[in-house]
Amino acid sequence: MRLLFVGDVVGRSGRKVVVETLPELRRRWALDCVVVNGENAAGGFGITEAILEDLLDAGADAVTLGNHAFDQKEALVFINRQPKLIRPLNFPKGTPGRGAALIRTQSGADVLVINAMGRVFMTELDCPFRAIDNELTACALKQGADAVLIDFHAEATSEKQALGVFVDGRASVVVGTHTHAPTSDERVLPGGTAFMSDAGMSGDYNSVLGMTPEEPVNRFLTRIPRERFEPSAGPGTLSGLAVEIDDATGLAVWARGVRIGGVLQPTGPLPWDA
Ligand SMILES: [Fe+2]
Ligand SMILES: [Fe+2]
Repeated sequence: MRLLFVGDVVGRSGRKVVVETLPELRRRWALDCVVVNGENAAGGFGITEAILEDLLDAGADAVTLGNHAFDQKEALVFINRQPKLIRPLNFPKGTPGRGAALIRTQSGADVLVINAMGRVFMTELDCPFRAIDNELTACALKQGADAVLIDFHAEATSEKQALGVFVDGRASVVVGTHTHAPTSDERVLPGGTAFMSDAGMSGDYNSVLGMTPEEPVNRFLTRIPRERFEPSAGPGTLSGLAVEIDDATGLAVWARGVRIGGVLQPTGPLPWDA
């Protein structure tokens, strides 16, 4: 199975590069499964139903979220009728939507997609390790699902690496999101789980985390909010992780970071290009 994960889509620049690039990538790489983090897709804060449908139409099989899941209040309602939209699993009991879903991809595979949030330097939520463990027990790799992808939305690299080790061999992919900067540590862990500390954002990297720099710099200098954060409007980079998964085991064969467009150094050819 050929899986592509796309990191946090930020604003119009992020949407543009993803919507314009993804259909061609799906064809060229013959992708079986595409998961996109959309928590910053609407003006940098949350997601609307129209934007969700644009991402699904462009080729996403599922869209994950994070701490910005419900910044657009309409998401509290439409998430209940959008089974491919997945918010953090460890939000308080009673939160609308779902934190894990078995997604039938366009190629017919069943992929368990889990979104969870870390707790280091973030809001106190239920334990993500135990919540994920419960999901992996209920829908085990190669029993309930052909592949399992975990988008771990967290600030601390330590927490992300610990989760990778914790589920190694029980998930196909653990990929971090939230920091908006891609790491170069993608690899297959000893038990066969593909891991990358952070997929990076999809958006304009001539920015501060995808936002025009003036207001973030102002707040660091003065501590006084002056304006709203606005997404940076320059050419976007699609940033993410490509993983080849062994159909027999559901475990990863190789994992490679992907960067296309914008100002980041582009990735070289993947084995899929050969
Ligand atoms: Fe984000
Ligand atoms: Fe986030």
